[in-house]
Amino acid sequence: MASSMLSLGSTSLLPREINKDKLKLGPSGSNPFLRTKSLSRVTMSVSVKPSRFEGITMAPPDPILGVSEAFKADTNELKLNLGVGAYRTEELQPYVLNVVKKAENLMLERGDNKEYLPIEGLAAFNKATAELLFGAGHPVIKEQKVATIQGLSGTGSLRLAAALIERYFPGAKVLISAPTWGNHKNIFNDAKVPWSEYRYYDPKTIGLDFEGMIQDIKEAPEGSFILLHGCAHNPTGIDPTPEQWVKIADVIQEKNHIPFFDVAYQGFASGSLDEDAASVRLFAERGMEFFVAQSYSKNLGLYAERIGAINVVCSSADAATRVKSQLKRIARPMYSNPPVHGARIVANVVGDATMFGEWKAEMEMMAGRIKTVRQRLYDSLVSKDKSGKDWSFILKQIGMFSFTGLNKAQQSDNMTNKWHVYMTKDGRISLAGLSMAKCEYLADAIIDSYHNVS
Ligand SMILES: Cc1ncc(COP(=O)(O)O)c(C=O)c1O
Repeated sequence: MASSMLSLGSTSLLPREINKDKLKLGPSGSNPFLRTKSLSRVTMSVSVKPSRFEGITMAPPDPILGVSEAFKADTNELKLNLGVGAYRTEELQPYVLNVVKKAENLMLERGDNKEYLPIEGLAAFNKATAELLFGAGHPVIKEQKVATIQGLSGTGSLRLAAALIERYFPGAKVLISAPTWGNHKNIFNDAKVPWSEYRYYDPKTIGLDFEGMIQDIKEAPEGSFILLHGCAHNPTGIDPTPEQWVKIADVIQEKNHIPFFDVAYQGFASGSLDEDAASVRLFAERGMEFFVAQSYSKNLGLYAERIGAINVVCSSADAATRVKSQLKRIARPMYSNPPVHGARIVANVVGDATMFGEWKAEMEMMAGRIKTVRQRLYDSLVSKDKSGKDWSFILKQIGMFSFTGLNKAQQSDNMTNKWHVYMTKDGRISLAGLSMAKCEYLADAIIDSYHNVS
């Protein structure tokens, strides 16, 4: 039986709950209680049952959220957290949108209750979210071909779709881009959905490997799910051009694949909700059946509210009704019904012309600030780096992230250990966590890590 030693300065401090029968006797066999009056220190051992959880090993830290934990522990004042994709102000503080505060005040004024939502979520939210995605009045909405249910933000919505795939398309494979947002693999692994990768990033050009992507999608078994980032690809920041999207849709249609969009940055990439939904709308116009997971973490700054949706576009209203019923069936034993707070914020903002306008202005402001720091970082790199290296790939990338090309572990370690810049190991930095004032410092760190660490 396992035992632990307990050393006490005085017997009077012995905890009452310690069972005296379980105290091991000293070497002489005498009970320490009986001979402690004259001793200043008593050593004894207490038996402890082995844990039933001995077989559970320590999980590794999450590659993205673990970066924030390491950042918090760093006491250097120069430190910079470019790991997690969360918007910061120029002062590097979290930002709650004014329009969100306004929508929350409205909820208080109205005295909204906290009753359970139905399994599918708030009806006004589901209507608003589908309209934002496809455009109000789009035929797929008018003809009721979209099954929409509220999800626990982007992650939870992806997870619902993964469960639907596992249940109704057994053995079907999901193709994900190489690289992709780290949680995609976890989501499909946990849902027991097989996945493989299609080529996406070309390290030579720090751009899109379009030929490789098309070839891999073509060669996937017919009827595969093709996971596509609707805009602002995470982690690379590299999106297909509108012409390339057309070719991607062509090959997916030819092979009878099912597109599966992950839209986590609508309005946050370009500053325009419509522009960032162009890829999704292209597929809708072709009358294809497909999935779209949505998130309001970034574009409304509702990270902790866990608000998003899964939409399944079907070829008939009847199919959409059936799909929706099964999505609800999947959600019920997982979390019963979703939270109301974020759903009401989205519904209030989208449902009021003034607030909708204010949201768009704030989104443009956030997207604009990211574009400005992107430019400043590029300018700083070009002016400081005398090697002639072409840094223009930074300007070609879009959205919150930049893939720096610092893809060797030693390089990102140098960024963190020497420069106190926290980022993911794949070389991704979140420009949303960068201020104008820190661009030059970051450029120095990148140049040093790029040229001096191999
Ligand atoms: C590509 C992508 N999909 C989905 C998400 C989901 O985020 P959340 O669950 O916070 O909405 C993220 C967040 O970083 C993302 O980058």
